[in-house]
This record gives sequence, C-alpha cells and structure tokens, in this order.
Amino acid sequence: MPSENTNISGGTLRHVRARAPGRVCLIGEHTDYNDGLALAMAIAEGVTVDARRIEPASHGGGQRVRAQAIDLGESDEFALSDPRPAPGWRAFVRGTVAELQHVGLRPVGASLRIHGNVPRGAGMSSSAALEIALALALLALAGTADEIDRTELAKLGSRVENEWAGARTGLLDQLTSLYGEAGMALRIDFQTLRIDPAPLRLDGWRLVTLDTGERRSNASSGYNQRRAECARACELLGVRSLREAGEEQLEQLPPPLRERARHVLSDNLRVDSAVQALRAGDLPALAELLNASHASLRENLQVSTPTVEAAVARMLDAGAAGARLMGGGFGGSVLGLLPPGVPMPAGGLEVHPCDGARVLEG
Ligand code: GLA
Repeated sequence: MPSENTNISGGTLRHVRARAPGRVCLIGEHTDYNDGLALAMAIAEGVTVDARRIEPASHGGGQRVRAQAIDLGESDEFALSDPRPAPGWRAFVRGTVAELQHVGLRPVGASLRIHGNVPRGAGMSSSAALEIALALALLALAGTADEIDRTELAKLGSRVENEWAGARTGLLDQLTSLYGEAGMALRIDFQTLRIDPAPLRLDGWRLVTLDTGERRSNASSGYNQRRAECARACELLGVRSLREAGEEQLEQLPPPLRERARHVLSDNLRVDSAVQALRAGDLPALAELLNASHASLRENLQVSTPTVEAAVARMLDAGAAGARLMGGGFGGSVLGLLPPGVPMPAGGLEVHPCDGARVLEG
C-alpha cells in the first residue's frame, strides 16, 4: 500500500527530542533529480536534536537560537528573526530555521543540542538527518507540526541543501529519512512522489557499508555538474525530465551527456528489477544489480574515484556478491551485499531498515 502523507504530531512544548535516521540507497543513484526511481531504506544510525524553548530576553533582545553540535564540540547562536548564511553544519541549522519561517511555520527561540551516530559526510545522509531532526524538533516546540505533511517537509529539507548548503540535491535522502519503515525498503517514484514499501527479506544475507574515508561535499564535488549535465540533456531532447526520455533517443546526445542519461535510464530499470528480485527472494540477482549499477556509476556517470574503487574491491574480495558506491559519489561509503556466513570486512557497518523520523519525547 502506498504511504499516505502523514502529519507530524506534536503540540506546543517546552522541551522535545526528535530523531531522524540516515539512509542507505540500495539502488537508483542520481535518479531523484531526474524524476526517476530509487529503492532506499532508513537506517538505525541518525541524528537526535534536544530542543528547549528559550523565552525572549526581558530587556527586549529578541528571540535567539542557540545550537550546540555535541560531537564536534562547536556551537552557534543567531537572532531568530535574522538567520544568515554560514559555512559547515551551521548552514543546516540556520537554513532550517529560515525555511520554516518562509513557509509560515513560526519557529520559536530555542536551545538545540545536536548529536548523532550517522557517519558524517559519508554518503549516508547525515545532512538530511540533521535538517529533518531539527525541523521536527522546531515544529513540535512551535506547535505547528500539523501544518505541514512529511512530503512538504522533505521538500523543505531539500531547499536547505539547495539554498543554504549549495548542493543541488534531490529528495532521496529526506523522503527516505521521513518515510522509513522497519523491515522495509522504499521504492520511491520521484515523478509522482509515490512511495511503495517493499519487504526487505534478506534470509541471512547482510547489507554492509564501508566508509572510504574520502570526503567531498555534494556542494564541492562534481555532483552539481552532473545535475547540470542531466538538465542539458533534457533541453537537447526536448523533454521535461529524463523520465520522459526513451533509450532510443540517447544516440542524439553528444558525449558525455549520452552516458549521463544512459546511467539514469538504466538505474531506473534496475530499481524495478531489484524490487522483483526482493519479491522473489533472489538475493544473487540483487547482488548482480548492485554490480551493474556500480559499473554504470563508474563508466557512464563517472562519479567514482580510485579510493571508492579500492573500497568496492575490498568489499568484493571480502566475499560480497555485489558492491557499489552509494549516494552522490566522489567518496563517501560503499554498500555491499554479503551472502550468509561471510564475515564483514574490517571497518564494515551492518545496516538494517528502520522506522523514519519522529518526535520521541516532549
Ligand atoms: C545525494 C543527494 C541525493 C541523491 C544522491 C544520489 O545523497 O543528496 O539527493 O541525488 O546523492 O542518488
């Protein structure tokens, strides 16, 4: 059954705790901003925000937002009425406050303690987890949670990435973090924003990520360039998105736009093949799809690096039946599918499909 858009419950509270998960994308990369398909899951690792209302200073200083990034030992403070751009993690806090204001959701002055256990900048959506946990906490404090549904909240998070962090990312990370379900992978159609959960029955196989240690933010890597190339391919083909393009049209495109589009069209097809493989309990077929997706990400989209290739090779050498780079590329983590009994490579993290973002306490 498709997920309904659901409101985020919460009233006007003095203290709340919200948690949002990171995500693992099983298949379908760089498809989200092309109105394509992806199969992804929320994971146990995520970001927690403890938010406490701060009353306006009695001497008329106006409402303030104070934020502490516990894991980094850093803090930030700004006037609620005037969140200005800032680099690093502060961009996400200020951007989330500003975007909530832009849509009239009236965040209040707050002290925010942020901590998490999703590897940062590792292709597992630490930034989406941060935006979404912040937004849920601020909405619950303000008592405006019922005024926005989860899909609109995902779009708000994506605007924070686009406008405040300079990454022209799509909706994959935010939708997965918000709609995750324990035991389920989500087939997301970015043209309709329909989400179909599909049971993830692994029968002893394991999904494992391996951090390459290579860090390039989506804002500074070739991510935005790939998005621009896909947009240019659409212009040349006269289509609104690559979802409308047929394989037979791709020959009209010059390189490398032809290869970029080929990746997107083929990964869309692999998403539905992966759903079928899961339904049939055919894990070797899923592993082959991971390998095929990686080959396309490397050859057609060209978002791999020597360090990523080395990590994929380590995963396969350790006995994974399939492995591929995950997320935007240019570093981050790789995902492997290990048959029963195969030990994890050193430094690997086993991931499980978990529930989506929520307000935990108020
Ligand atoms: C990053 C972006 C997503 C998506 C993936 C690639 O995670 O934030 O929007 O484009 O890369 O699939």
